[in-house]
Amino acid sequence: MIKVSVPATSANVGSGFDAVGLAVSLYNTVTFEEADTLQISSSDGTVIPTGEDNLVYRSMRRLFDEVGKPVPAVKIVQTNPIPMARGLGSSSACIVGGLLGANRMLGEVMEKHELLRLATSIEGHPDNVAPALYGGLTSCVYESGEVYSVKKNVDRSLVFAALIPSYELMTSAARAALPKTVTHKEAIYNLSRAAFLVPAFCDGRHDLLRVATQDSLHQSYRLKLMPGGEEMFAVAHQCGARAVYVSGAGSTIMAVVERHAADGFYTAMKVHLAEDPALKAFSLLRLEADNVGATVE
Ligand code: HSE
Repeated sequence: MIKVSVPATSANVGSGFDAVGLAVSLYNTVTFEEADTLQISSSDGTVIPTGEDNLVYRSMRRLFDEVGKPVPAVKIVQTNPIPMARGLGSSSACIVGGLLGANRMLGEVMEKHELLRLATSIEGHPDNVAPALYGGLTSCVYESGEVYSVKKNVDRSLVFAALIPSYELMTSAARAALPKTVTHKEAIYNLSRAAFLVPAFCDGRHDLLRVATQDSLHQSYRLKLMPGGEEMFAVAHQCGARAVYVSGAGSTIMAVVERHAADGFYTAMKVHLAEDPALKAFSLLRLEADNVGATVE
């Protein structure tokens, strides 16, 4: 049996729209076993497609097609604690799970950077699939079918509070809400801040976390689709977060907290979540950075 474990990811990290993402300590697993016919099931009751349209299976098949090998019949069992349509990389976890499972079945025919290229071509952008594969904070450029990526470990002195609402936000809707064009000023606002993401998260420059994660390209448009989102930003800052941003396309809001201040932050946040009617939809999940990425055993 092959077992693949893939971390959740938090893309964009504010200013790094479609380019930067980081992995966190929540894991989907997929097992693959030989079988006579295709069998796909979920071990935790998550509703998933169980036919050939299943994303893990489609991604697995993509690698077999790429190397010109016939696709075997397999039994796939998925465990999906990463919530769907919440901006935590659930679809990337399926894509990376399928590709890594197939790669093991084929005797490790592809290097990780080749798997990243395939994963990005399935997902459309690299900022979730890259940290899912590599862990840490990854910066990526996707150009002419090629992916250039750099991975850096996230400082252990930072922890992550995922504020996950009960409502979904489909990536397609969150992308449709964005303007077709942006101004020069808005572009400069983001690219100057995105250049600070690596020092802020990976090189101890925590004084830069807040400015590094500010954005003018996507968050304000998406927050209009996220009831309680703007208030959550204010409350998380008030409780001591060093940075707050929309995770991926939403609907999760990610707060970045210094480890030494985490207990106070979580205690204060829980009071707000329990008492503020505008924040009732949100629950809090305590996460760490994952600097390892997906594993296969
Ligand atoms: N960069 C993507 C977006 C991540 O913000 O739309 C969601 O998959």
